[in-house]
Amino acid sequence: MLQITVMLLVAYFSGSLSGAVIFSKILHVRNPSDYGSHNPGATNMLRVNGILPALCVLIFDMLKGLIPVYISYRLGISPFFLGIIAIGACLGHIFPCFFHFRGGKGVATALGSMVMIGFDFSGLFMATWLIVVCVTGYASVGAIVSFLLAPLFVWFIKPELTMPVAMLSCLIIVRHSSNIQRLIKGEEPKVIRKKRD
Ligand code: G3P
Repeated sequence: MLQITVMLLVAYFSGSLSGAVIFSKILHVRNPSDYGSHNPGATNMLRVNGILPALCVLIFDMLKGLIPVYISYRLGISPFFLGIIAIGACLGHIFPCFFHFRGGKGVATALGSMVMIGFDFSGLFMATWLIVVCVTGYASVGAIVSFLLAPLFVWFIKPELTMPVAMLSCLIIVRHSSNIQRLIKGEEPKVIRKKRD
């Protein structure tokens, strides 16, 4: 139990390191917390500063989820608690103690922690996200649909992980409530704009 508690704390604190804020300082670009959707994440970094800074944030935020879950896996922690540790990393990203508890949506961090499930699951998840984003233009719709389907994908691939993935999905979908409200009002900013938009 001590191992699990320590890894949960490691996950929360690593999740609290905001890739968007850190890379906006390193690369001397605009802090996405102050522009666009005001979300400190890779999607808003893309909107505000372009592809390269967004890629840095995406990779950094994914590693925050992947590394604590990988270490925990190597320590022999059970799949259920690996899910809890993944949730800890996402909670760090969403409520970061280093940035006044004002964080992002947790999509990249959750994806990073789920990479461990396998390439088949990650491939299905990312393909779903990409297709939905290309069709609708909305990153938030891509995230909501992918996380809605994630428990179903994992149920086919590694059924024992369905419960932790479902819990993680609930957290990320609830965190998108402001996006859902903006989508209903037609005020959600797109990441992909068609010429007529
Ligand atoms: O990854 C976060 C995405 O789903 C929504 O981001 O900036 O459109 O609120 P944003």
